[in-house]
Amino acid sequence: MSLFITFEGPDGSGKTTQARMLADYLESQGHPVLCTREPGGTEISEQVRQVILSTHNKSMRNETEVLLYSAARAQIVAELIRPALAQGKLVICDRYYDSTFAYQGYGLGVDLNLLRAITQFATGGLVPDLTFYVDVPVELGLTRRHRSETNRLDLKNIEYHTRVRNGYLELVKAEPDRFIIIDGSGPVEQVQEQIRARMITELAERRMT
Ligand code: TMP
Repeated sequence: MSLFITFEGPDGSGKTTQARMLADYLESQGHPVLCTREPGGTEISEQVRQVILSTHNKSMRNETEVLLYSAARAQIVAELIRPALAQGKLVICDRYYDSTFAYQGYGLGVDLNLLRAITQFATGGLVPDLTFYVDVPVELGLTRRHRSETNRLDLKNIEYHTRVRNGYLELVKAEPDRFIIIDGSGPVEQVQEQIRARMITELAERRMT
């Protein structure tokens, strides 16, 4: 039985590390796992990622940004995610369309209904079974983030990142059955423990243990 799990969170939430750790754990339990990321995951989508995140592309329009993320998404869904689910894998994706709603919708102010239509077109309506939202206060996230790589989106201001986080909290509220909210502010192992415990419960409920 397949399962589509996504990880979401503000920049610096640590969700990438957590997604990888969960994938390793599930593999160690004998589950077939595909762990990937957005934007990226396929050759074409990784090329699109370079364009989106390049610090050279400062003049990028909001419309362009939305369409590039969606283009990368259309490719990874068709080329990687759907085939893996068809093979009965547990697919873990670091970010998916909730990021577009949080960052481009709530963050940049792009119309949410428009984003819904574009997302439907890009994904063919593929909705995650489960989404871990790893929450951290904006300041903590940005402090963590600036210790590692810098990309074009890091140049945006703190108000933008606050809108993104509040947007995520709205999304979680609107779909409480799909989202699992995780406090990402503690040590890595402690956060992973919370995620693993919830995952074990979810697998048991689906009789996938
Ligand atoms: P990452 O830090 O998780 O690799 O993500 C790269 C950046 O891309 C991050 O700042 C969030 C942003 N992003 C969007 O703005 N919209 C999207 O749809 C996705 C997938 C990512």
